[in-house]
Amino acid sequence: MRIFVTRVIPEDGLQRVREEAGDLGAELFIWREDRPIPRADLLTGVRDMDGLLCLLTERIDAEVLDAAGPRLKVISQMAVGFDNIDVAAATARGILVGNTPGVLTEATADMTLALMLAAGRRLPEGDRFVRAGQWQTWSPNLLLGLEMSGATLGIVGFGRIGQAVARRAAGFGMRILYHSRHEAPEAAAQISAKYAPLDTLLAAADVVSLNCALTPETRGLIGAHELGLMKTSAILVNTARGAVVDEGALFAALRDRKIAAAGLDVTDPEPIRPDNPLLSLDNCLIVPHIASATVATRAKMATMAADNLAAGLRGQPLPNCVNPGADVNRAGQQ
Ligand code: DGY
Repeated sequence: MRIFVTRVIPEDGLQRVREEAGDLGAELFIWREDRPIPRADLLTGVRDMDGLLCLLTERIDAEVLDAAGPRLKVISQMAVGFDNIDVAAATARGILVGNTPGVLTEATADMTLALMLAAGRRLPEGDRFVRAGQWQTWSPNLLLGLEMSGATLGIVGFGRIGQAVARRAAGFGMRILYHSRHEAPEAAAQISAKYAPLDTLLAAADVVSLNCALTPETRGLIGAHELGLMKTSAILVNTARGAVVDEGALFAALRDRKIAAAGLDVTDPEPIRPDNPLLSLDNCLIVPHIASATVATRAKMATMAADNLAAGLRGQPLPNCVNPGADVNRAGQQ
């Protein structure tokens, strides 16, 4: 057996992979550079592998699966989102795909609130102001921002993370609206959140938080029309995926003060290009996709990814699988 790991993951997970490789007598290959593996190296690296542990930085499509060849049984992604993986192509080849749901919910919700507060209360601007030596006096009109208490938060995507954001926001005394493919009356009732159609939510919210998965339906969900519905005082927070937002439209809305500010953990593409005009705006706060980046959460994600990999290699159901039963297709091919 042969296992390919596309990056050095946190030690708890890597140790689990090493132990598993030892137990199975498998050869372990690890891409050791702290940057995404170049495409050509990925295509040669996956050849004849039985298991692949990858990150959201790799595009795992039919070309990669073909390069891997028929031995590949399991793709274990160290992330909850799996929009970088062509799951249909994996399923057609009988390859199970695992992810890491649940463990990053709280860390991601924390970051959503951090971005909401930082953008809403203009922390990066304040920090730049002080460092530039501009702080002369306490001033009644200096860097006024959004009062969270009593403000309306509109959450787009009301799964685990959206609900965790809502719980936190309730503690700030915010009124909560949510929009989701499916209404979630029980979870909503616990935090007095109310379902709203997207347009209604956008028009009513003081803060819009994107917490949905990237799918064909959510790609470009927030464009010029949607931004135009938002209040001029509103803040957009994105901890989902960059491609949920039309970045050109967001730039125009922020530049023209059609909305007040944005706090982004994700961009499209990642990393953001140095010449991206969003970087020139004072009212746009951007961090490098670190919503799940706590020591504890990343360790859990790595361990979960290792567990999924191990189960797939042993022909067992993955503890967290996005295409359960896909291995039936493998049996059909053999
Ligand atoms: C995920 O797991 O999908 C997150 O975006 C990683 O932070």
